[in-house]
Amino acid sequence: MEFEDVIRKRRSIRQFEPEPIPDETIRKILALSQHAPSAGNLQAYRILVVTDSNGKGTLKNATYSKLNNAKQDWAFGAPVIIVICADTEASAERFGERGRDTYSIQDATLFAAYAQLVITSFGLASGWIGNVEEQALKDAFHLPEYLRIVALIPFGHPAGEPKPFERKSLNDILLG
Ligand SMILES: Cc1cc2nc3c(=O)[nH]c(=O)nc-3n(C[C@H](O)[C@H](O)[C@H](O)COP(=O)(O)O)c2cc1C
Repeated sequence: MEFEDVIRKRRSIRQFEPEPIPDETIRKILALSQHAPSAGNLQAYRILVVTDSNGKGTLKNATYSKLNNAKQDWAFGAPVIIVICADTEASAERFGERGRDTYSIQDATLFAAYAQLVITSFGLASGWIGNVEEQALKDAFHLPEYLRIVALIPFGHPAGEPKPFERKSLNDILLG
């Protein structure tokens, strides 16, 4: 797929076919996403891959029970959900507070953005969930305190259509 087509085709999809994604494909998606730039090339992120229904159940409860946000249930029908965590400690060791508060989050966010594009280029589709109950999710998966949950990326074969495309005009984002 041409790069411009990948960019245009990447849209948030909120309905997936249950068809599993082979481990090899998942690993390839993750390895390609590591090509994203990162501060000091530290790749200050850790990735949790959830494919089994137990794990998804735990994720769903940990993520939404407290928020009672049932409208994000769509995510848990995806065959794969990757939980992208910023490793604040790894970045802080090198870059101090800026590493802890900023660079690690940027590293993890870039990984997530690359992952969405790689997933699209593989003919698959993904969504993004930022609205998570972070502490509940960390507790459920016994994740260390220094990890920050940046995004959940559910992905698989698309079963639904994206919402109509909508963006600000370029002039609205240009300063000066
Ligand atoms: C930081 C961030 C948080 C997001 N959180 C959610 C979310 O909690 N639930 C959801 O359905 N989509 C979420 N999204 C997806 C956006 O709604 C979506 O990217 C936006 O509406 C543009 O649509 P598109 O991705 O189809 O181009 C999030 C995206 C980002 C970058």
